[in-house]
Amino acid sequence: MTKVNRKVVLSSPLDGVPTPENFKLIEEPSPEPSEGTFTVRHIYLSLDPYQRIAMAGRHMSADGKLDTGATPRAETIGQVIASRHPDFTTGDYVRSFGGWQEFSVSDGAGAFKIDPTAAPLSATLGVLGMPGLTAYASVVKLANIQPGQTVLVSAASGPVGGTLGQIAIQLGGRAVGIAGGEEKCAYVTGELGFDACIDYKKEGYGQALKAALPDGADIYHDNVGGQILVDAFSVLKDYGTVILCGLISQMNDLNGAKGFYLGLPIIKRAVMKGLVVYDFEDKRDEFFELVAPWVAAGKVKYKEDRAAGIESVAAQFSKLMRGENFGKTLVVLGPEKL
Ligand SMILES: NC(=O)c1ccc[n+]([C@@H]2O[C@H](COP(=O)([O-])OP(=O)(O)OC[C@H]3O[C@@H](n4cnc5c(N)ncnc54)[C@H](OP(=O)(O)O)[C@@H]3O)[C@@H](O)[C@H]2O)c1
Repeated sequence: MTKVNRKVVLSSPLDGVPTPENFKLIEEPSPEPSEGTFTVRHIYLSLDPYQRIAMAGRHMSADGKLDTGATPRAETIGQVIASRHPDFTTGDYVRSFGGWQEFSVSDGAGAFKIDPTAAPLSATLGVLGMPGLTAYASVVKLANIQPGQTVLVSAASGPVGGTLGQIAIQLGGRAVGIAGGEEKCAYVTGELGFDACIDYKKEGYGQALKAALPDGADIYHDNVGGQILVDAFSVLKDYGTVILCGLISQMNDLNGAKGFYLGLPIIKRAVMKGLVVYDFEDKRDEFFELVAPWVAAGKVKYKEDRAAGIESVAAQFSKLMRGENFGKTLVVLGPEKL
């Protein structure tokens, strides 16, 4: 019997925060592999903030705006169920860009085999995947953190921010987070072991930031842009480093984003570096070798915000883009073993 592939497509142009109504679910026959390709059944689907700007045609992975009727691109972890490719065999686990659907066909480009015994499969999308590599690239490669230095990071309960602070601590540094709400801050200090976490939604947040960093921060890793980036300069040490990584506070309305006053980095004689994780693909193995043992030993912890089933993808993405996720956002599409 022919299997059915259910996929999510854009059904109306996006304006502001995406809602489930912007998308619809369609069905088609599951794709069969042609010569030189293989079919993957998806197990975990990664939802990431960049997908919002990719849909708007403003991300470097995007070739223009996502058309209505098209399926968003996304990283997936899956298992090969049929193969006519010399390097991929039925049963192999793979990381690839399968998109918002239950099955995909790949010619092997951008697809990597993964060892399911090396780490939990879903962690390959979060703490030990692209977000974790982003954290490593920032604090180790671009900021070159030294023992005794302090890093400040926003969106601190998320996969980039949470992993980044914990790597800094493992390397002998201090970590202070900024996150939205008491529950997230309690997790960042209690579970992840940060030295402090400031709730930016609470009154008096500016004073709390200064009180948590009486000597200032050597490094600020910015995940959010906007006012929080401005506020971070009030606690950055002179000659400090700022890593510009994300703009989630502005992603739903990039056209409405306000300018940034350049007097702030001048006064602090700051070094500001933009980060693109794709530049660090060749560091994936060294990152994994350093951080995977810490994850296995419980020294680096992580949290996942999971939903189940292809029908939940659009709502789960909307939740992420409202900032209501708590942990790495993903959707479980099938069992790890059949
Ligand atoms: N440059 C690169 O190569 C690269 C690679 C990976 C990720 N990134 C960026 O890194 C950032 C973090 O990614 P992630 O995967 O770890 O995501 P994440 O932390 O799960 O991102 C969502 C979080 O962002 C915060 N947020 C949402 N709206 C906000 C707003 N208006 N103001 C302040 N905070 C807001 C929310 O946390 P709170 O409740 O704490 O506000 C929310 O839980 C994103 O901006 C992403 O695009 C960049």
